[in-house]
Amino acid sequence: MVELETKRLIIRPVSLTDKEAVFEYRSDQEINKYQSWIPQNIQDVENFIKRTSRQLNVPETWFQFVLIDKDIDQIIGDIGIHFLDEENRQVEIGCTLNKHFHNRGYATEAVERVMDFLFFDLKKHRVITSIDPQNNSSIRLVECLGFRKEAHFMESLYLNGKWVDDLVYAILKREWEQRRLSKHARE
Ligand SMILES: CC(C)(COP(=O)(O)OP(=O)(O)OC[C@H]1O[C@@H](n2cnc3c(N)ncnc32)[C@H](O)[C@@H]1OP(=O)(O)O)[C@@H](O)C(=O)NCCC(=O)NCCS
Repeated sequence: MVELETKRLIIRPVSLTDKEAVFEYRSDQEINKYQSWIPQNIQDVENFIKRTSRQLNVPETWFQFVLIDKDIDQIIGDIGIHFLDEENRQVEIGCTLNKHFHNRGYATEAVERVMDFLFFDLKKHRVITSIDPQNNSSIRLVECLGFRKEAHFMESLYLNGKWVDDLVYAILKREWEQRRLSKHARE
């Protein structure tokens, strides 16, 4: 089992026993208003966990990590990874935090660790993310991490009963490496 660690977090694959903790923050309609999936009950979360791949790095599947705060030993969010193409060198990433843990740098810390894993361990070439143009905290997060805005699709997604725009942000391995080098030089 892949387990990643940061200063404050353990990042490990989701399991069925996490369903209550995941339901607690994923069911928040306000926080998750820009997401395509909001569970109505624990069974929805159980189905969601069962639908995600048990195995990491399988083309055309989603893999789900949960983020555990080491101090309190509690799940505070998750990161989903979509292994996109047949070549298996490109992935899509998404992050959701429990609202009680917003604005404390947890998402930055977790996504940064997962991106290192994707580029350096799994040898990915490109990571993308898809964001609603009104989702400002998500835009700030990915711009801080060095993603570039590559596209603004007009009304390209039908979500929660209406057509919405979609921003696509991306970063290449060489850009991530460059960013890591300049960060280390500053430290
Ligand atoms: C997207 C989401 C994960 C971002 O969470 P977040 O709390 O804004 O991100 P972080 O945990 O990295 O916190 C960053 C903020 O904390 C501040 N911060 C405090 N301590 C920090 C630290 N040690 N390190 C970095 N930032 C820190 C930063 O200044 C930053 O604030 P700013 O955005 O005003 O500049 C969160 O808003 C969310 O769960 N949204 C709902 C789900 C969703 O829509 N996801 C996107 C679709 S996949």
